Amino acid sequence: MKEKLLQFKKRALADLEKIKNEEGLQDFEVKYFGRKGEYNAIVKELPKLEPVDKKDMGRLANEIKLEIEERVNKTKRELEAKKLESIVNDEWIDKTIPGDKPELGHLHLTTQAIKEISNIFSRIGFQMRSYREVEWDWYAFESLNMPKSHPARDEWETFFVDLPQGKKGKVVLTPHTSSGQAREMELGKLPIRMTNISKCYRRQSDISHVPMFHQFEGLFIDKNLSISHLKGVLDYFARSFFGPDRVTRLRPFHFMFTEPSFEVDISCDVCKGTGKLEGSDKCRLCKEGWLELGGAGMVHPNVLKAGDVDSNEYNGFAFGWGVERTFMMKEGTKLDDIRILYKNDLRFLEQF
Ligand code: FA5
Repeated sequence: MKEKLLQFKKRALADLEKIKNEEGLQDFEVKYFGRKGEYNAIVKELPKLEPVDKKDMGRLANEIKLEIEERVNKTKRELEAKKLESIVNDEWIDKTIPGDKPELGHLHLTTQAIKEISNIFSRIGFQMRSYREVEWDWYAFESLNMPKSHPARDEWETFFVDLPQGKKGKVVLTPHTSSGQAREMELGKLPIRMTNISKCYRRQSDISHVPMFHQFEGLFIDKNLSISHLKGVLDYFARSFFGPDRVTRLRPFHFMFTEPSFEVDISCDVCKGTGKLEGSDKCRLCKEGWLELGGAGMVHPNVLKAGDVDSNEYNGFAFGWGVERTFMMKEGTKLDDIRILYKNDLRFLEQF
């Protein structure tokens, strides 16, 4: 037995010396110390020995096992260190080499403009709304003081949806964000200070019109509001969005839903509102010092009535214009055809 144990130790230690990797070590452990390994085969013989020998051989078997286990652990540590060293040598990374930049997209220009406009108005307490794209005729026209068959409706070259009429008339694709006015008043929370930015649809397509566009609508309903308040809000917007020296001008106009009504112009950035350029008679961009932004006015009492607001107690103003056109008027955009915004041409979109 003693001889067998010593032979076992000699062979095991010699084999251990030859091991080169983890797999080799695993095979070694199975061969010598596995359930059916050599060590177990030898110690199975122990019970057959005389009691005196049994004790000695038992101790010897144990000592040999511990010694080999210690050597196995040492080999394990050496193999691990070797592996780490080879990773460091073979797989090193030069952190100074510039990385590959993934291509990043960005928000569409219209979305960028919507965000900027929303931020500007939220700073003066206007709540953001986005009313419906598909609307009843009553909200789009009748509540706005445009009775059925009134010729003023023609200006909103409307898409009608082929659906049965409801109590509030035909179904239309919202031609302007003013249809959000009665919807907001219906909520019954006064005063109102909101901007409704939504998609609008009209049967139009040319260099300054697209069939689907975005408008933003400001609505302020409170007690004792005046045109000065309207002008103050418009000038604040012009300065914030276009730059500190831009101002607005109100030009008398007619909308059915505001009285008085105005067209809103903004001073031209190219000729600084003079309409003239050095060495030439007229400014090429605006010709007269002003660019048209959109419409505005004091909310008509009939509109307040449609929204169930007491026009003896409350009044207000509204204004609305196109997001795309407003973006195009920004300094440096140089867009001469609105349709390019929706052609999905990345060569154009990536410039902004
Ligand atoms: C209106 O739609 C009124 N609801 C604006 C208003 C609101 C007046 C509140 C008074 C009080 P108008 O039809 O002019 O007005 O349109 C306003 C703006 O929408 C235009 O100045 C333009 O900037 C934009 N717009 C109109 N149609 C198109 C279109 N097809 N494509 C791109 N922008 C358009």
